[in-house]
Amino acid sequence: MSAKSIQPKLVRLQKVASTNTVAANLAKEGAAEGTVVVAEAQTRGKGRLNRAWFSPKGGLWFSVVLKPKIKPQEAFKLNFAASVAVARTLRTLTGLAANVKWPNDVLIEGQKVCGVLTETRVRKGILDYAVVGVGLNSNVQVESFPETLRGYATSLESKLGRKLDNESLLQGLLEEFFTCYALIGHGGFEILLREWKHLAAFLGSQIEVHGDGRLFVAKALDVDAEGRLLVRLENGMIQKLVFGDVSVGLKQSR
Ligand code: BTN
Repeated sequence: MSAKSIQPKLVRLQKVASTNTVAANLAKEGAAEGTVVVAEAQTRGKGRLNRAWFSPKGGLWFSVVLKPKIKPQEAFKLNFAASVAVARTLRTLTGLAANVKWPNDVLIEGQKVCGVLTETRVRKGILDYAVVGVGLNSNVQVESFPETLRGYATSLESKLGRKLDNESLLQGLLEEFFTCYALIGHGGFEILLREWKHLAAFLGSQIEVHGDGRLFVAKALDVDAEGRLLVRLENGMIQKLVFGDVSVGLKQSR
């Protein structure tokens, strides 16, 4: 099926452990590409790097089942499609200047408002399915955030001072996401990556890199065609990061 012709099939649930888990189970049972599981709340929302994802009622928590004709090692492209789609939608529907941060966060004024978690099943070296999970802090009160998120994360409600219609957000996000997804299927990842870089305010900045039990300071230089973050260490060496987390310091010239 070409990504352009995908019609989302919505599975609406109230409270689940994780929409990614529900979507993966549906995919295993043969759910079609474009199946979207959306829940009002998650009790065991999953974040990257085995973290928990705070998912109370009011936020937008959903997962999309995909069957892309790409190699397993290209699955990272789906994260870029999702984060570009979220940033585009937020800019259009709210006017907020949403940015992206490697690897797949969406920020407003430097604070995380959305995260993306892609999980895949690979069989005999072939990508069987992918589940792209999107967690958007839409109508979530920042006062309800656990201590670890205070200051670091934000919500649309907090930035706008009003609630948004999650349904309109979901429709807008899915439309943008399937447009971005279609690009990947048509060899257009470069175009997507170019847009992602335009949205990436952190490139050119001093950053702190966390991951692998290490913490170091570096300058964010670029993201390559394999989705790796190129950084220059303080000793001048260039490193390519495959996973981890970065936090942003002072903006410098690129
Ligand atoms: C991150 O750590 O930034 C990724 C967070 C992804 C959260 C979303 S919420 C919907 C979907 N279901 C999950 O359990 N996780 C993703």
